[in-house]
Amino acid sequence: MNSKEHLDKLAKRKAEAQLGGGQKRIDKQHSLGRMTARERIETLLDPGTFEEFDMFKIHRCREFGMGDTIFPGDGVVTGYGTVDGRLVYVYAQDFTVLGGSLSETLSEKICKVMDLAMKNGAPVIGLNDSGGARIQEGIESLAGYTEIFQRNVMSSGVVPQISAIFGPCAGGAVYSPALTDYIIMVKNNSYMFLTGPKVVKSVMYEDVTVEQLGGADMHSSRSGVCDYAAESEVDAINYVKRLLSFVPQNNMESPPPVPCEDPANRNGAALNEIIPENPNAAYDMKKVIMETVDNNDFFEVKADFAPNIIVGFARYNGVSVGIVANQPANLSGVLDIDSSIKGARFVRFCDCFNIPVITFVDVPGFMPGTVQEYGGVIRNGAKMLYAYAEATIPKITIITRKAYGGAYCVMSSKHLRGDINYSWPTGEIAVMGAKGAAEVLYARQAKSAENPAQFLASKEKEYHDLVANPYVAAQRGYIDDIIEPAATRFKIIKALKTLENKRDTNPMKKHGNIPL
Ligand code: HXC
Repeated sequence: MNSKEHLDKLAKRKAEAQLGGGQKRIDKQHSLGRMTARERIETLLDPGTFEEFDMFKIHRCREFGMGDTIFPGDGVVTGYGTVDGRLVYVYAQDFTVLGGSLSETLSEKICKVMDLAMKNGAPVIGLNDSGGARIQEGIESLAGYTEIFQRNVMSSGVVPQISAIFGPCAGGAVYSPALTDYIIMVKNNSYMFLTGPKVVKSVMYEDVTVEQLGGADMHSSRSGVCDYAAESEVDAINYVKRLLSFVPQNNMESPPPVPCEDPANRNGAALNEIIPENPNAAYDMKKVIMETVDNNDFFEVKADFAPNIIVGFARYNGVSVGIVANQPANLSGVLDIDSSIKGARFVRFCDCFNIPVITFVDVPGFMPGTVQEYGGVIRNGAKMLYAYAEATIPKITIITRKAYGGAYCVMSSKHLRGDINYSWPTGEIAVMGAKGAAEVLYARQAKSAENPAQFLASKEKEYHDLVANPYVAAQRGYIDDIIEPAATRFKIIKALKTLENKRDTNPMKKHGNIPL
């Protein structure tokens, strides 16, 4: 063969591989409103930066007629490229090839990019669209999945791992994403379940649709598996890109700073008026966040799950931070099982990746009652304590109003190594709310009082004036200062600056034993 023939042959072989499972199946994928694996990669990466690996690799199964069902590259496209100029490793399962099901070969291809990502300290983005373990291969595919799981766990806390879910993902195809840091799904077009509706019907006698069983709405609001339910595949990929912009390449780096034109000392006058006079009235904590962060730009995560706590990313003077905030506008911002899990996981992610955490506190306590106790609010609430206590990243806390009971302790208090703890003048820091305190302390006297209600109201006021304010905590030094709400942005920016080189450590150990 002359050189032209060599090049022609190469081009032909590549074109063949790029067709995946063939035009018919690509058309079907498009007709379902879904992109192909390669289209998804192109949408994710900076134009022209994708370098593909293992395009000619094929599966080795010859049973069940599989010798006649061989597609170059098998059911996954893998390689690397850049997003906003930063290196990422990527794999995209190709549903047009045997439903993107995981063969031994597929696993080897995915493991190769995961290993490179670890060696070179760059994020791994998994674009999942797979029917799970390749049924024809049996143990090889189970072994292959487990090799991926092992790498997911070894990579955890070393390089960011992000999973986008497209199409129906079943079995192992959901467990690998579950081990990664973030999961993004597409509304009405992507599904995650261990087993599909047919198996559910035959084993559990339950009739359920794919949407009910594992749709994006369910997973983003109910199970908490999904961090963002996107409107479309493009929306999902854009979310991944934005998420990447807030995180570092690996655990040895800090997130990339961005130039900031929003004045550091911008006055947030509206914040002076945001706390209602009635201590039980709600207000929207998102407004507090928006008012203080650069360009009012807050990137929320898990918005639809446990909305009584808000978590997400933003920047202060160009510095990327994680924000955790109680939301008084939802269940009074109470801490319960779901919000504790949501908050704890987010704090731990930030701690892994050197992202300072800013905590806005307005919390009446932990949710009481049998539902919570039976569900293990003790065990799950402890996750939040554990996460803040072990975190060594810069921790800045702003108490806007209530910080009661165990919830005061949990929300990045001074005693959990909070670095800089501020309160607004409206802060109420106490063991419990004044009403509850008066009822417990003066129940006996109230019975014999001439007017029990009036008596309790006076005791409630007494308790509030004496205890439920920020000054007692400030007198002890548990609050570093009581600040004017309007100055919050500037105070946070200055605090972040002082904590730039913060070094804090935990005792040497294999790992702790977080209550799971
Ligand atoms: C081999 C598979 C496959 C699989 C799908 N296909 N899943 N091939 N192994 N796991 C093939 C189909 O045979 C079909 O081939 C093509 O992919 C498209 O699949 P369809 O069924 O036509 O698509 P759809 O109707 O959209 O349904 C998608 C699906 C369904 C919901 C994912 O295919 C399904 O239920 N698959 C099985 C899911 C499953 O139980 N997987 C194993 C899980 S156990 P043709 O040639 O017709 O186009 C597991 C173990 C690991 O993963 C656990 C670790 C903890």
